[in-house]
Amino acid sequence: MSLKYFRPNISSLAGYTPGEQPQQGKFIKLNTNENAYPAPESVINAIRAVDASRLARYPDPAATAFRAAAALSLGVEADCILCGNGSDDLLTILVRAFVGEGDAVRFSEPGYILYPTLCHIQGAVADPVRFSTDWSLDDRFSTDTEKVRLAIIANPNSPSGTVIGADQIAEFAATLPCPLVIDEAYVDFADADVLALVTQHPNLLVTRSLSKSYALAGLRFGYLVAQPQMVERLERVKDSYNCDTLSIVGATAAISDQNWRDENRAKIKSTRTRMEEALTNMGFQIPPSQANFLWCIHPDKDAREIYDRLKRERILVRYMAYADWDDGVRITVGTDSQVDALLQVLPQILAQI
Ligand SMILES: Cc1ncc(COP(=O)(O)O)c(C=O)c1O
Repeated sequence: MSLKYFRPNISSLAGYTPGEQPQQGKFIKLNTNENAYPAPESVINAIRAVDASRLARYPDPAATAFRAAAALSLGVEADCILCGNGSDDLLTILVRAFVGEGDAVRFSEPGYILYPTLCHIQGAVADPVRFSTDWSLDDRFSTDTEKVRLAIIANPNSPSGTVIGADQIAEFAATLPCPLVIDEAYVDFADADVLALVTQHPNLLVTRSLSKSYALAGLRFGYLVAQPQMVERLERVKDSYNCDTLSIVGATAAISDQNWRDENRAKIKSTRTRMEEALTNMGFQIPPSQANFLWCIHPDKDAREIYDRLKRERILVRYMAYADWDDGVRITVGTDSQVDALLQVLPQILAQI
């Protein structure tokens, strides 16, 4: 039996379950927090302009062009930036770099379900700390850390969209005896970020994604910001060519196009406000979201049933259940017309269940 060759922790791994990506049929897709709008024209044009002969050569392993452009946009030095094949790639690099077999990875929960999966692949122990019911995080996050080699907080968090403040993050960074990763995949939809803390805390790393606020989930590009000596050593852990030629070109154009990002996020934030109001009026309880999605719990209606019925109406949302926590549906903020379609069918569905 060939399965016997797998390490035991891989055999027992449930595996990360990504949100549905239907390849056929027409759905309104509000399940994986992609950007509902087309990618920036500047990105499409930059990719179209690539000389095809470049595809015969390996890409720049350091993604130099992106790092230079991002340094300008973000106001940090280029050697503080490490690029990845999506921010998931950076999270993988971080777990590989800092966590050994039997070590613990601390993360806030309910949160991004990839963290425990990465930890189990490594043969490490998942050490989640629960949010309080109001989605705040207390000092337990930075205590009892004997085996903890890496700590991760998604901020804004998924599935809640809630944030914890920079002061508390600074305190965690100062107290934890290990690297602290702030996963800012959704930060462009939030009021504040913690990039400025990186210069003060050598153990703080911020990961970002171009999948959400730049509408480039299919391009696969993310980056990390940390102090240069941290970046230099992480470079040794990454795959040599983890970002391909086209994605580096596209991402460089995207990060240089701050006007597109600003206009797009203004649209999404305004739709988010309208959507939150309408869903609250239908009885959903929704924590304050600073992301491009809403975590919706209905006190009287079954979340799984809501998901199923919406799917029958060709609207995909994400049903999520966490142990000892209310299950719910996480709904991405779509375009205005997508959200209108959702708001039109939901009252009928709620009346039937
Ligand atoms: C909290 C969080 N971090 C990271 C990611 C991964 O993003 P990327 O597409 O950059 O790999 C996601 C994707 O949904 C996410 O929800």
